[in-house]
Amino acid sequence: MKIKEAANQLHTTPRTIRFYEEKGLIEPEKGENDYRYYNEADLWRLQAILALREIGMSTNQIKEALEDEKEIETYLNVQRSALYEEWLQMKDMITTVDDMLEKQKEHKLAAEDLFKLSKQLKGLKQTRNDWEDKWNFNNQAQAYDQNIKTTGYRFNVHEHYHEALAKVRECISPMSGQLGVDIGTGTGNLASLFLEKDVEMIGVDQSEEMLKVCKEKHPEMDVRHGHFLALPLMDGQADFITTSYALHHIPDTQKLLALKEMDRVLGNEGCIAIADLMFKDEHDRKLKLAKYKEEENHEALEAIHDEYYADRSLLVNWLKENGYHVECLAFNPILHVVFAEKV
Ligand SMILES: C[S@@+](CC[C@H](N)C(=O)[O-])C[C@H]1O[C@@H](n2cnc3c(N)ncnc32)[C@H](O)[C@@H]1O
Repeated sequence: MKIKEAANQLHTTPRTIRFYEEKGLIEPEKGENDYRYYNEADLWRLQAILALREIGMSTNQIKEALEDEKEIETYLNVQRSALYEEWLQMKDMITTVDDMLEKQKEHKLAAEDLFKLSKQLKGLKQTRNDWEDKWNFNNQAQAYDQNIKTTGYRFNVHEHYHEALAKVRECISPMSGQLGVDIGTGTGNLASLFLEKDVEMIGVDQSEEMLKVCKEKHPEMDVRHGHFLALPLMDGQADFITTSYALHHIPDTQKLLALKEMDRVLGNEGCIAIADLMFKDEHDRKLKLAKYKEEENHEALEAIHDEYYADRSLLVNWLKENGYHVECLAFNPILHVVFAEKV
């Protein structure tokens, strides 16, 4: 069919189709007088291009995605995560405007309030965008399951790894048909314990390669690109949230925002279980660091310095202040489980 017919069928314009042709996204056959003819395959491709543009992908991204059909899922996954991030930013902006209007209603909105509220918003945006993967988890993905079996010489962060993961499942005690979200799911070792219990699991991770390995191991799992501060889920969707060995990759300033984000996607009566490397509080951190120093355990000091072990008391306080009943358990001096139920 000719360009006009194709445009009519797809509810677009010949100009738009020509633009995609110029960008090399589509190459229809040329007939007499240089007229372009669009066959079934061209129409399918055009339809895909229009749909991907509609969800905000650039023409370059679309070109790459369509070159390898297997990659299209990865692109869609990344695109969904970007859209959630934009949506959350819009929500933050709306909340700020609401706060400004509230103050204005009470005739209390002064220039300094405007400045303060906008500064808060700016800080929030910055915190969301600040994180970068300095450990390169994409490179670690293939060897990850093997690496957790190796123990450090004088500092083994994976001691009690399996026990802690099993404890998380025990605390949650999932029911068949529930929806769980595992953040920083990696290769899915924790999430898969729930799949055994006939639970629907969404594994969220910022690393595409980790998600690929996870999907290969557990095809039944829904893997989603996303991160602690922008979970690719709607409000109140999850029955429970888990995370293991991931929270210590985000700085303390981001940890409370991460809890807030978990709280957003958690439904009423939901629960959160965190298995991670942390200290009971700042005093405990000081004592332990002093001990490693005294023992000249450089392996421990370097590992702790390279990551962001939490202050457990900060997490617990936030959860309590936000309506959770909290229980904690320590497997060893650095590995803890925090279990919180919404009451
Ligand atoms: C050490 S692995 C742990 C994987 C798995 N949860 C486990 O217990 O074996 C850390 C994982 O957290 C992910 N991660 C780190 N920071 C993240 C963030 N800000 N948002 C989402 N995932 C993150 C990494 O990509 C990686 O897959």
